Amino acid sequence: MPKGPRPLIAGNWKMNGLAKPAMREVTALAKHLDKAAGKQAFDLLICPPATLIAPLRAGIAKLGLTRRIRLGGQDCHASASGAHTGDIAAPMLKDAGCAYAIVGHSERRTDHGESDAAVHAKAEAAHAAGLIAIICIGETRAERDAGQTLRILTRQLKGSVPAAATARNTVIAYEPVWAIGTGLTPTAADVAKAHAHIRKRLAARFKDAAGFRILYGGSVKGSNAAELMALANVDGALVGGASLKATDFWPIALAVG
Ligand code: PGA
Repeated sequence: MPKGPRPLIAGNWKMNGLAKPAMREVTALAKHLDKAAGKQAFDLLICPPATLIAPLRAGIAKLGLTRRIRLGGQDCHASASGAHTGDIAAPMLKDAGCAYAIVGHSERRTDHGESDAAVHAKAEAAHAAGLIAIICIGETRAERDAGQTLRILTRQLKGSVPAAATARNTVIAYEPVWAIGTGLTPTAADVAKAHAHIRKRLAARFKDAAGFRILYGGSVKGSNAAELMALANVDGALVGGASLKATDFWPIALAVG
């Protein structure tokens, strides 16, 4: 990682969080950032549930940290507006204070049957709204056991990443489905192999492939972050469970900073 793009440490809170305790965690993160003043060598992102985006934006602004803690949505609709009850459009995320939107998380792909084509459309919608799309890909256990990992990644990259993607508007998150929330992680060698493959596939399509951030996600925690983040082509982490508490999240950030 050392020579690559500026790392991104992203927390995906999923369907967790109420305003008061959430703000307490952000305030705790702010204290860590204060101590590390001026030395933040990574981008820090929180993707809270949609209900918390506006209050967290206000709280982060009050702490004077708008540039140091970014906010992102966990999903967006492919359309900019319309009759889609319960969905959130990318311009709404932008309007509420987001800089990023996760698209194609495996929980969305599974729970809501999102195809690569749907994820592709969502990534385009995020780009059109001026958001950075974090496009998630990753194989299931069965696909890994069948030796299909790299083939699946190739297919998902081809199907989910729009032609207009650039290193500035797109981040790729490699998240093996079987590693999410399970405490299991691939070996360092397997992560390095997957990330090298992703970089190679990006290079076949995009001139600025070297600048894309490729995050690893799936059971990242303080105890394994340093090893994972030191790998070639690993430019940060997408963190679920361990992003909910500042005491768990900050050591992960320190693994790159
Ligand atoms: P986890 O989730 O860190 O809890 O495994 C990662 C994710 O789903 O982004």
